[in-house]
Amino acid sequence: MRRLKRGVLIVFEGIDGAGKTTHAKLLEEWLRNEGYNVTLTKEPTDGEIGYLVREHLRRKDFHPATLALLFAADRMEHIEKELKPRIESGEVVISDRYVESSICYQAADGVDAEWIESINKWALNADLTILLDVDVQTAMRRMESKVRDKYEEGDFLEKVRNIYLERARRKGYSVIDATSPLMKVQMEIRRLVLQLMKEKW
Ligand code: TMP
Repeated sequence: MRRLKRGVLIVFEGIDGAGKTTHAKLLEEWLRNEGYNVTLTKEPTDGEIGYLVREHLRRKDFHPATLALLFAADRMEHIEKELKPRIESGEVVISDRYVESSICYQAADGVDAEWIESINKWALNADLTILLDVDVQTAMRRMESKVRDKYEEGDFLEKVRNIYLERARRKGYSVIDATSPLMKVQMEIRRLVLQLMKEKW
């Protein structure tokens, strides 16, 4: 088993239908085969608060700021119970969504972005944030057969995508064109991860 001096947190971000879940899984398998101790996790989590959030995303009945608070609360439990201990023990942790999802989605839903940042201030910094960028038409086509949650509408996702791209420029996140063939996207992701690992040995 390969050991890192300190674990790392790799985050996938992007609008619904960008392919985050697929790529996070492919990356997890590849890193495991390469000998790393890997955990794949996601937000909202499968914990109690995550469950509550999913329920209200389906029912579309909570105020956007209430959702922002719940996402932040779910994240705090996630960080304290899962992310911190795993990173401290030298694991590679891959999270399908993290703080940027709150900033981009809840801001697109009318919540003040600075306030969202402030309620997430205590969150661990990710070592690598990868934005899988896809146009909304492609994303909607990929979700065609799915029952739509609160945020899975074209006009809304357009807003979210623009906020993601603007923040990625400002914060220096890695942006990958996720409309490219699957393995081309995955190879680009692996290249970024290898670069990160080299810095962390
Ligand atoms: P998922 O489809 O990736 O499981 O995420 C469920 C929805 O929750 C998705 O539409 C994005 C949204 N979301 C937020 O609005 N804010 C957040 O902080 C997170 C983690 C997800």
